[in-house]
Amino acid sequence: MSDKTFYISTPIYYPSGRLHIGSAYTTIASDVLARYKRLMGFDVFFVTGLDEHGQKIQDKAADAGLEPQAYVDGMAKDVQELWSLLNISYDRFIRTTDADHEAVVAQIFEKLLAQDDIYLGEYSGWYSVSDEEFFTETQLIEVFRDEEGTVIGGIAPSGHEVEWVSEESYFLRLSKYSQWLADYFKEHPEFISPDGRMNEMLRNFIEPGLEDLAVSRTSFTWGVPVPSNSKHVIYVWIDALANYITALGYGQDADSNFAKFWPGDIHMLGKDILRFHSIYWPIILKMLDLPLPKRLIAHGWFVMQDGKMSKSKGNVVYPEMLVERYGLDALRYYLVRSLPVGSDGTFTPEDYLGRINYELANDLGNLLNRTVAMVNKYFDGQVPAFVSGVTAFDGDLEVKAQETIQEFHKQMEAVNLPRALETVWKFIMRTNKYIDETQPWVLAKEEGDREQLASAMSHLVASLQWIAGLLQPFMMETSRSILNQLGLAEISSLEGLAFGNIPAGAQVLAKGQPIFPRLDMEEEIAYIQSQMAGGQQEEAWDPANVDLLLNKKAIKFEDFDKVEIRVAEVKDVWRVEGSDKLLAFRLDAGDGQDRQILSGIAAYYPDPQVLLGKKLQIVANLKPRKMMGLVSQGMILSAEFEDRLAVMIVDDAIPNGSILG
Ligand code: ME8
Ligand code: MG
Repeated sequence: MSDKTFYISTPIYYPSGRLHIGSAYTTIASDVLARYKRLMGFDVFFVTGLDEHGQKIQDKAADAGLEPQAYVDGMAKDVQELWSLLNISYDRFIRTTDADHEAVVAQIFEKLLAQDDIYLGEYSGWYSVSDEEFFTETQLIEVFRDEEGTVIGGIAPSGHEVEWVSEESYFLRLSKYSQWLADYFKEHPEFISPDGRMNEMLRNFIEPGLEDLAVSRTSFTWGVPVPSNSKHVIYVWIDALANYITALGYGQDADSNFAKFWPGDIHMLGKDILRFHSIYWPIILKMLDLPLPKRLIAHGWFVMQDGKMSKSKGNVVYPEMLVERYGLDALRYYLVRSLPVGSDGTFTPEDYLGRINYELANDLGNLLNRTVAMVNKYFDGQVPAFVSGVTAFDGDLEVKAQETIQEFHKQMEAVNLPRALETVWKFIMRTNKYIDETQPWVLAKEEGDREQLASAMSHLVASLQWIAGLLQPFMMETSRSILNQLGLAEISSLEGLAFGNIPAGAQVLAKGQPIFPRLDMEEEIAYIQSQMAGGQQEEAWDPANVDLLLNKKAIKFEDFDKVEIRVAEVKDVWRVEGSDKLLAFRLDAGDGQDRQILSGIAAYYPDPQVLLGKKLQIVANLKPRKMMGLVSQGMILSAEFEDRLAVMIVDDAIPNGSILG
């Protein structure tokens, strides 16, 4: 067991709709850090999950005709499937409906109530259901008035409509802690990244003086009830934020992960929720007499050329589509490489495909291909022993490798993932340049240059091993493939990595395999655009889909459409010899051919001749199969009920061969 621990979390996402590349970004970036720390010998705990309570979820469930619990259960399954597709290495998937979480949230609330950090009061204000947030009149971007000029409604900064809500509510005494928090910020300048955000929080919210926060609701029921006053449910932020400690077993078990992993090392989050994490959460922890997480990393958003992603605009990009078409590693690479630290980034199909073609297929893929091909050509596939500094080029490359790894670690510690990848790419380019410098094809012509040629090969392999190691937290599959093609072992630690540590006799693959396909830009741009515009992305997923309703795995329409059900007339029917189950039918399915189908329904038709001349429904495109030595070319549809069974007979007027659907 390591004594170095690392606890990282993502926000818990609202299961109010399908997750797009935005939430995938936060989760993948966190996964990269978790994997990096594991490779650096840390004992890592990585938490992600869902924020399942609240009015919005209750409404979504109602729209889908489901109980909230059934709705969130279905969503949780979908989200976990997505994370498994994206190879997210979380240690706990926390749901705010988990029993242990709910119990501890209730306990926290009562504790704060008992110590007067929570008190009962009255709340009125302009409330936006979508934002789950109250607004003052001046915060509204538009107000509606009646004839007398009285404000009767308005629009929140998010664009959602607000309504006047007045209710009894419990309040969290934030006001008492303004000064404490301001002092804490000043003593911990590393608490919030990127720089600048901390001042924004101080200036806009903390220095003007914090207002107490409403932390319960009586207007809906989908939440954790206040134990001492069950008219109230605990409102979202205490419930949601507490996940970071309940996920570790806080309040339940003294020897839990909480003792080991708290305070958290990194909370990853989007800039949209920094206020809650940098103000409410520290104060709640202070009230509980707990230390604060060490760092909040607030990132910007992925936006589209026409603004925010939204279903109504038809510009939403879902991760599944990109993974299915271009592979997981391209998505992981693109997302962490192209969102600049602290600011927004624009997703465009051109950019996505360009990075695959130029950076992945060209820069990296070519380096690997050329290396594998040359080791095969000049050394029968066997990597020559590594000798340091045979030529000046070699020495320079070795120095570059050391500089690269140092810079890489520095950027990873700073959670500057684009810069960390850029550092690796500079080294990839440098290694490509090394090929031009050493000109192995020239060296190969002179027997006297054999040593230099050998050194060039082993240095290329060493560079790629280096690259595969550094890329492993980002692109596991690519890293494995590079090492595998070079005949090298997987890298399980980045700590003791030494440049040129290549085992004697390493044998590269006889033929290199491209790790990224080169894409036809025009074709693929059109493809991504068609998918963004709705297309099959939506069809493949719908929050109210039947799989939730029927609790079964739903199939896509295309799947159903593959099944061909036709009307077929019984021309002959008889018992199959040697079987008391099977009847054999000769049918006319309207295609001018006799069709034989065997069906295990003999027990239900003691006199099968009653079926002669009847028109039945058959599945016409099943693969033929053999039973009792006879071929069956389809299946007869029937319904089972009580202890009976009946074939599906259709009206005589329907022509043979008609297709049902
Ligand atoms: O706010 N680009 O949940 P949420 C990048 N339940 N990241 C994006 C993004 C985009 N376009 N859209 C969303 C909630 N995100 C609360 C959190 S935590 C105790 C409770 C990411 O489903 C980003 O990390 O609205 C953002 O903070 C998070 O999803 C919000 O997810
Ligand atoms: Mg949000």
